[in-house]
Parts: sequence; C-alpha cells; structure tokens
Amino acid sequence: MLNGRKSLFSGMQATGTLTLGNYLGALNNWVTLADEYECFYSVVDMHSITVRQDPATLRKRSRELLTLYIAAGLDPEKNCIYYQSHVSAHAELAWILNCFTYMGELNRMTQFKDKSAKHADNINAGLFTYPVLMASDILLFQTDVVPVGIDQMQHLELARNIAERFNNIYGEVFTMPQAYVGKVGAKIQSLQDPSKKMSKSDENENASIYLTDSPDTVIRKFKRAVTDSEACIRYSDEQPGIKNLINIYSVCTKKTPEEVVKEFEGKGYGDFKMAVGETVASILKPIQEKQADLLKNKDYIDGIIKANGEKANYFATKTLRKVQRKVGFPDRIR
Ligand code: TYM
Repeated sequence: MLNGRKSLFSGMQATGTLTLGNYLGALNNWVTLADEYECFYSVVDMHSITVRQDPATLRKRSRELLTLYIAAGLDPEKNCIYYQSHVSAHAELAWILNCFTYMGELNRMTQFKDKSAKHADNINAGLFTYPVLMASDILLFQTDVVPVGIDQMQHLELARNIAERFNNIYGEVFTMPQAYVGKVGAKIQSLQDPSKKMSKSDENENASIYLTDSPDTVIRKFKRAVTDSEACIRYSDEQPGIKNLINIYSVCTKKTPEEVVKEFEGKGYGDFKMAVGETVASILKPIQEKQADLLKNKDYIDGIIKANGEKANYFATKTLRKVQRKVGFPDRIR
C-alpha cells in the first residue's frame, strides 16, 4: 500500500526493439490496471547494463521506451513513469537484499543460465544478482501487484522469498507482492518457431513483430507465420502456431479464444493471418504516431522525467530508510 491505495510496480528494459510480446504480455495490462492502483512504471536502465551497451544507444532507447509507455496509454500525471537510474534507492536496497539472498537461489534462475550461455564472454556479477535488483525495484514501493509475462515469474517468486525472509527477521517491513499475469497473452511465441518465446534478441527478424514495424511489415510477417497443415483453426497445443495467433488476436480484440475460433470457423489460414495482421497493425500505428509526437516535445517529456523521478525517489527513500534502520545502520543526523 502507498498513499492509502494498493500499489503496482513494473518495468521493462530498453535494450533492443520492443516486441509485440512485451506489449501484449505486459504494457497492455499496465494500461488496463492503471486506474485501480498507485502505479510505478520504470525504465529499468540499471538492468540493461548487465549486458554490454553502447551508451548513446542506451540513452536514446531509454527515452523512446519512456515515451512509449505514455503513447501506449499511461497517463504520466497519474502514473509514476521514471528512470530506475534516477532513483539511487534501487541500488542501495539491492545491496542490502544481496545479503539476504543465497547463491543457490540465484544459481537456479533460468534467465541467468540462458543469458550466461548467450554472453559467455561477459558473465558478470550483475547478471548473476540481476534478480535481486528486480526484487528491490518491487519491494521499494511496497508493491501489491506486479504485472509481467510468464518469463518473469521465477524472478517474482524469488522477490517474494526474499521479502518473506526479511520480514521473518525484522517484522512486517515489506508488502508481499503478487504477480498479475494475463489469461492469454502472457506468453507470446515466435512467429517462426512457436515453441520459442517471441524475443527482442531473436536473430530472425520475421520471428518477432517489433512495436516499430510499419503496417505492411506487420502484415507481411503474419502472412509468413509458421503454422501447420491441419487447415483448421483450433485452439490446441497440437497446433502451436495457430494457437499463438489466436492468443494474439484474442488479446487485441478482447475476445476469448473460443470466440475467435467461432469467428473463423470454416475460414482458411490465409484469411485468419490477414485479420490478425491488420488488427495488430491498427493497434500499433496510433501508438507509433503518438510516440513520434511525444519525442518531438522535449520540454514536456523532460518535465515528466523530473517530476516523476522526484515522486519515485520520495516513496523509494521512505522504504529504504525503514530497511536501513531495521538492519542497524546509524540514524542520519538532521
Ligand atoms: P523485459 O524487458 O525482458 O520484458 C518486459 C515485459 O515484457 C514481458 N514479455 C513477454 N510477455 C509475453 N510474451 C512474450 N514473448 C514476452 N516477452 C517479454 C516480460 O515478462 C516483462 O513483463 N527483468 C524484467 C524487467 C524488470 C521488472 C522489474 C519487471 C526489472 N525490474 C520489476 C517487473 C518488476 C525484464 O527484463 O523484462
């Protein structure tokens, strides 16, 4: 709870170009939940440097991501949209929580295993303790709910374990966060290999819809999506390509998968792919236009960055001071 309301925290990395997976699995739900909670949406640039980044590109992408949050429908007057690196409490709490997290727990994280296999020349300590920084993000804001895609569930479970461990020693310091995962859309798969997650880092450009893709590109990629030879639109694990397209269409149109199957009864894959492509393109286009406008409006965005950075700092520091006191750091002299 914060400010007498239930609180919500989530974040995204500004590395690579965001995909439809990020949008449908996370951002879209953020917008739906925004009115119900005291919301904090962070551009988690500190997480990004666990993989080597070009500084100018990271700065540019971070600003693009922040404006994307707004363009997708989050009102920056009501929701605290800010850069993680502007709030030093994230790093300070992460240090403390590192001392309450076991090597064995971090060793089990599948994302660490995947990322260290991918970046074998740079398996740094930050990559290893990444989930502790993520736990700090969440716990700093006494977060009740964390809307994420399924791939972040293991990290969220760890955040809960750390919070519970800390609370068991020091009393009720942290709110116990709950994940919010959409019924469909929490796991959008690659268009070229539906057994794999749609990911920004996929080498095959046709595998992912990027949020920056033009309508023509979106439609072309859906036309090329890998399906099967059943020639029947069914919502079944045996047809993972079609199932993924149904999931995408279902979230975009707010219809249930069953309703989608009914809508396309007797229709061919070509028609269905075209409908999915057109629907996704029609959602992305206004977001892209709004984002382009916002990026031109430098003073407005700067004002939001400043005001929301200060707001995030205020709430985060409150929790941090409480934690510092609990672990035995000396009081500050005013
Ligand atoms: P990131 O930047 O990889 O992804 C951002 C969000 O998008 C979701 N997502 C997907 N959902 C469905 N299908 C997909 N194919 C797909 N790909 C990505 C992710 O689940 C995520 O919700 N560590 C986090 C960022 C983070 C964070 C946090 C999140 C840092 N601190 C605190 C929540 C709370 C990450 O790298 O997400």
